[in-house]
Amino acid sequence: MKHKFRIAAGAVAVAAAALTSLWANAHGNVVPQAVDTTGLPALGDKWREENPYRTNKLALKIGASAYGQNCARCHGLEAVSGGIAPDLRLLDRDCTGIKNEKKDACYKEIDNYFLTSIRHGKVRNGAVYMPPFEGVFNQEAMWAIKTYLESRRAAD
Ligand code: HEC
Repeated sequence: MKHKFRIAAGAVAVAAAALTSLWANAHGNVVPQAVDTTGLPALGDKWREENPYRTNKLALKIGASAYGQNCARCHGLEAVSGGIAPDLRLLDRDCTGIKNEKKDACYKEIDNYFLTSIRHGKVRNGAVYMPPFEGVFNQEAMWAIKTYLESRRAAD
């Protein structure tokens, strides 16, 4: 299944360009959209290990819009995957059913995985499954998107 997305071109840049034009043809606008995070508590240069905005309503709003503009074309509208990329409502599913501190530790681990995934994208053997978002938007925007995804979580 995953290999369906493999792109033959060797260079990452070429693969990225190919993927971009593929999506441009299929789904219209694919230029990554800047995310305005004005109003969110600033996070500074150090990468957080945990979502600092879990209950922040503005983060939820900013994240919903940022998700729609940057992620939905692959991961599906409102995080409901059409099968092209993983369903991000299920990102936390391994934490379901875990109790107390262990549950918090589990969410923290998923937060880390999420941040790594969007900072670096998903690139293996020169094939770009997902482009990196580091440098496209800031850490504040990344966690705002996570806050939105938590609101779309399949189960708690
Ligand atoms: C060009 C299509 C594309 C775009 C745009 C995209 N992704 Fe992905 N994403 C993928 C694919 C494909 C995978 C699975 C990669 C793999 O097989 O390793 C993935 C994997 C992930 C994962 C890991 C999921 C898991 O269950 O392991 C996360 C988290 C993620 N994406 C978040 C995002 C977010 C947030 C955005 C928007 C900022 C985004 N992605 C934009 C295609 C995309």
